[in-house]
Amino acid sequence: MTSTAAEDVLRTLPFGVIVVDEHLQIIRVNAAAEQLLDRGAAYLVGRALSTLFSTDSPLLALISQALASGFSVAEHELWLSLPNGDEGSHAVTVTPAGDDDRQVVVSLHGQSVVRQIENRMVHRHAARSVTGLAALLAHEVKNPLSGIRGAAQLLEQALQQEDDRALTRMICEETDRICTLVDRMELFSDEDISREGVNIHVVLERIRRIAQAGFGRHVRFIETYDPSLPPVHGNFDQLVQVFLNIVKNACEAVPPDGGEIRLGTAYHHGVRLTLPGGTRRVQLPLVVSVADNGRGIPDEIAPHIFDPFITTGREGTGLGLAFAAKVVGDHGGMIEFDSNGDGTVFRVRLPVHSIAKAEEEDNR
Ligand SMILES: Nc1ncnc2c1ncn2[C@@H]1O[C@H](COP(=O)(O)OP(=O)(O)O)[C@@H](O)[C@H]1O
Ligand SMILES: [Mg+2]
Repeated sequence: MTSTAAEDVLRTLPFGVIVVDEHLQIIRVNAAAEQLLDRGAAYLVGRALSTLFSTDSPLLALISQALASGFSVAEHELWLSLPNGDEGSHAVTVTPAGDDDRQVVVSLHGQSVVRQIENRMVHRHAARSVTGLAALLAHEVKNPLSGIRGAAQLLEQALQQEDDRALTRMICEETDRICTLVDRMELFSDEDISREGVNIHVVLERIRRIAQAGFGRHVRFIETYDPSLPPVHGNFDQLVQVFLNIVKNACEAVPPDGGEIRLGTAYHHGVRLTLPGGTRRVQLPLVVSVADNGRGIPDEIAPHIFDPFITTGREGTGLGLAFAAKVVGDHGGMIEFDSNGDGTVFRVRLPVHSIAKAEEEDNR
């Protein structure tokens, strides 16, 4: 390959490539790296990479390690704050190159898209198990319960002693309680639900009010809404439940003093994603985010957070996020999160009502 051909390939690679020498001086960058570093090649080449990152950046540590060892090093989930203001998990490889390995080639892949898709797969799986569970409960538990209740009522009529009647009444009350619980579980079932154009700000506003009246009394809410956001294609009640679950978790995670939750909405132009199992690229430009300054999601449960019954709460059910994932999936949307010791952000991507409607009609 001629060197111009190589340059062309380098330029068009969809991930950042930075070549630095042993003093971390930048020798070459591709277009993606220019974006990540927020400067053009003319500015960057000849400058030390260390001036663009804080001294404790894990990226610099990784490069030093590769330079010192002469071996290629890779990290799949390196949390980086980039000069362009982006912060997040990156897959980074640093490979010694050039004459006598005095240079290294750094490649930087943003993880957000990969993660979204992984999380999407996680919650697809969760959704299936939750749906199965709901159906199981509904059919296998509710029917015998009505039998038990009927029998207890008959028994009550035959009993003389008030003490004994109290016991049969207890049977009735408890079976009623289980029935209500099962009804709640049926929320998970695959019934067809109606969708319309939903103003997500009305949903979020309602949740903020519910929260501030009760479980989120100790929390300061900050709202950054894009007022021009088009309506979401969704079911109002279900969306309320989804964001209620997410906000409730955030309220439980923030400290009793100084707890903050940022509710945000944004329109991301040009976001098209191919979902696993599908060939069609879908547009999910509406992003609703719930960010808290809480303790973060524990590493042990992070990969399973959307599975049912995963909880760290003493009173938790572990169903809140499973439900959220299931409903967002049913909406054709995506849910993802980023979390560290300083807080957690959940992002829900949802379809636009007018676009979804048009697609539905095309498919008819
Ligand atoms: N914003 C958050 N910050 C920290 N941990 C969270 C957050 N959201 C969810 N979690 C963790 O995820 C677990 C599962 O949440 P969820 O499915 O709502 O169940 P539950 O709230 O009943 O525990 C929680 O127990 C908690 O450990
Ligand atoms: Mg919860």
